[in-house]
Amino acid sequence: MSAANPTGPLRHFLQLRDFSEEEILYVIDRARLIKDKFKRYLPHHTLHDRNLAMVFEKASTRTRVSFEAGMYQLGGSVIYLTTEGSQLGRAEPIEDTARVVSRMVDLVMIRTFEQTRIERFAAHSRVPVINGLTNEYHPCQILADILTFVEHRGPIRGRTVAWIGDANNMSYTWLQAAELLGFTLHVSAPAGYRLDPLRVGDQPASILREFDDPLEACKGADLVTTDVWTSMGYESENEARRLAFADWCVDARMMAAANPDALFMHCLPAHRGEEVTGEVIDGPQSVVWDEAENRLHAQKALMEFLLLGRL
Ligand code: CP
Ligand code: NVA
Repeated sequence: MSAANPTGPLRHFLQLRDFSEEEILYVIDRARLIKDKFKRYLPHHTLHDRNLAMVFEKASTRTRVSFEAGMYQLGGSVIYLTTEGSQLGRAEPIEDTARVVSRMVDLVMIRTFEQTRIERFAAHSRVPVINGLTNEYHPCQILADILTFVEHRGPIRGRTVAWIGDANNMSYTWLQAAELLGFTLHVSAPAGYRLDPLRVGDQPASILREFDDPLEACKGADLVTTDVWTSMGYESENEARRLAFADWCVDARMMAAANPDALFMHCLPAHRGEEVTGEVIDGPQSVVWDEAENRLHAQKALMEFLLLGRL
């Protein structure tokens, strides 16, 4: 069977750097067009009769709703699978699952634990595979975040993003975005929760600067962003993290240290009073609801691109 995209080779979206800068900017642009049509109730059925399988090995609200609604809006349909509700929960190998599912659908989205698990699936898939979050990366969220930044402030190239918090799937994907799209990422996390130098490699200060003090990291930022102190799969570390991250709560003082027109983003779900105060997330600089909505538009553009190429 040939690749699902008739105009090119089989492509996956397992991490942000699977795409070039030009491809990411194309998807963002296309998302803006699709969003505009959606707002005007104009039909956009480019994936008519196409079928997306979604495999969830972790919980989700936004990812499920945005992929499911998005695929229907494009004229296609979806199949929702979980670990417990499928043979994955009874130890069917991920490779066999990939071989079978990808003979029956046009596209697969997976949310799982290790990145190697989605890579193993993709290696045995006949159709494009999308990372809907792994322990290591969350590239769909960053597509939506870039779209949100561009809508509110224009191009992100040359800007500064402050990441206040854990070295997790979001921060490592922000780092890939900084490298690909040419902006500076400031990172501040407590000792023991900082970026792994082996994963980061050598980065110039124009791409990555790390700070002990979160307030310092916010200085000069055009966007301040954070995430829960404990990501899914790490719940046994909850108590230790609560103590370690106590001073890494994005508050009005940190937002005041950033540039006057700085935005605040959070991939959600959020814990008010932990990683961010209610005053900030519900305040005038916060664009978290646009950010959540943009998951829908960005992923519709992503699915189209993987299946149809450039239109
Ligand atoms: N931000 C995000 O991926 O949300 P869900 O976990 O609800 O899908
Ligand atoms: N870092 C969080 C993101 C949730 C959308 C997690 O992995 O749980």
